[in-house]
Amino acid sequence: MAKVKTAYVCNDCGADHPRWQGQCNACGAWNTLTEVRLGAATKGRGDRFSGYAGDANSAEVQLLNEIDLQELPRFSSGFSELDRVLGGGIVPGSAILIGGNPGAGKSTLLLQTMCKLSQSMNALYVTGEESLQQVAMRANRLGLPTDKLKMLSETSVERICHIAEKEKPSLMVIDSIQVMHMADVQSAPGSVAQVRETAAYLTRFAKQNNVAMFLVGHVTKDGSLAGPKVLEHAIDCSILLDGDGDSRFRTMRSHKNRFGAVNELGVFAMTGQGLKEVANPSAIFLSRGEEQSPGSVVLVIWEGTRPLLVELQALVDHSQLGNPRRIAVGLEQNRLAMLLAVLHRHGGLQMSDQDVFANVVGGVKVTETGADLALLLSMVSSFRDHALPRDLVVFGEVGLSGEIRPVPNGGERLNEAAKHGFKRAIVPKGNVPRQPIEGMEIIGVTKLSQALEAI
Ligand code: TYD
Ligand code: MG
Repeated sequence: MAKVKTAYVCNDCGADHPRWQGQCNACGAWNTLTEVRLGAATKGRGDRFSGYAGDANSAEVQLLNEIDLQELPRFSSGFSELDRVLGGGIVPGSAILIGGNPGAGKSTLLLQTMCKLSQSMNALYVTGEESLQQVAMRANRLGLPTDKLKMLSETSVERICHIAEKEKPSLMVIDSIQVMHMADVQSAPGSVAQVRETAAYLTRFAKQNNVAMFLVGHVTKDGSLAGPKVLEHAIDCSILLDGDGDSRFRTMRSHKNRFGAVNELGVFAMTGQGLKEVANPSAIFLSRGEEQSPGSVVLVIWEGTRPLLVELQALVDHSQLGNPRRIAVGLEQNRLAMLLAVLHRHGGLQMSDQDVFANVVGGVKVTETGADLALLLSMVSSFRDHALPRDLVVFGEVGLSGEIRPVPNGGERLNEAAKHGFKRAIVPKGNVPRQPIEGMEIIGVTKLSQALEAI
């Protein structure tokens, strides 16, 4: 029997210490160290799962060009939006973290996926949060096929892996990682030390047994998953399901993906029958009233591999405060401040005594610089109380000297806008396509003054 080693892990930042101390060396927090027993984990990791001590551990050295280059075998989750965010489907043996705030729909999404997939493969759903009755009731209410899905109510990862080894599922859900615990770790479930160790244990199990494993994780108030980044190292793919309770729509984005690109956006709607995919997201984010109001502009953003039309609104109003407010929802605050300075310096518009509010309709978060020109024009439109035409789309980056810079994928963005019936576009000159787009008047601009003239 090997000597049991212990480490002391900080519950705030996850740093390791060889002995107990009052303060964490890494983050400076007091009284956050908890004991983690490393005994078996450091000695031959494979022999933790009974029956796996054999040849599975022997690895061979290979030359890079001799490695079998077959496409990773993937299977579909049944949701094309989820497949796209995963980079083309689920890879067997991968550990996928689904994060989101409570009520985002993580359990619903996975229950729908598992019920469908259990018809063709061996699937095990482990619930530690809800009782088996609750899950069953939800599945029945949603009208899902329930005859093949295996259920387990358990929170000890050792027992889960022991049972899973007998059941041999090829797909597993752990709902959620925050309630899981293992005996070797002293601290409470949900603490950084527990989450880190249980996630590592489950991931190792997934790899060695070739099980695709979904881990559900709750997001803390500041948007991080159970302690800064502790989970992200262990898992292959991290997906965030975003959307607050009052909005019907849920967006899904991957933040890390070992098997595909990140930044892909998936859109779902929460309905009475569970989550439904939104095949044409541009249409929902654009559901506008008949009347065009000042301050409203339609923008084409680029999300991973496809364009998306969203509406941007600005309200510029005389401020009662000595320090006027600049508030951006779904956009970057700093970008807003920068654009106001550009507008003042190169457009001759003074808004220093005005409150400025900007919002992206539908709860989408826009991070790309291609939104600059649209935000700028929407502020001008609201400031002058002059509505822009309904059939106008805008995109382009604005530089500090008032120049309008082209953005990637201009042609595809314009085509998407034309498909949705837009007739006019103000875009950077470099993005004007050589061949005209039928039914669309495209105005190419290089300077801020030209854009202001165009409206
Ligand atoms: P849930 O999947 O339990 O969220 P999570 O596991 O991420 O915490 O989803 C709960 C929310 O979804 C709840 O507020 C109710 C709503 N909901 C619907 O609107 N329709 C439905 O069919 C279902 C199952 C849930
Ligand atoms: Mg849940």
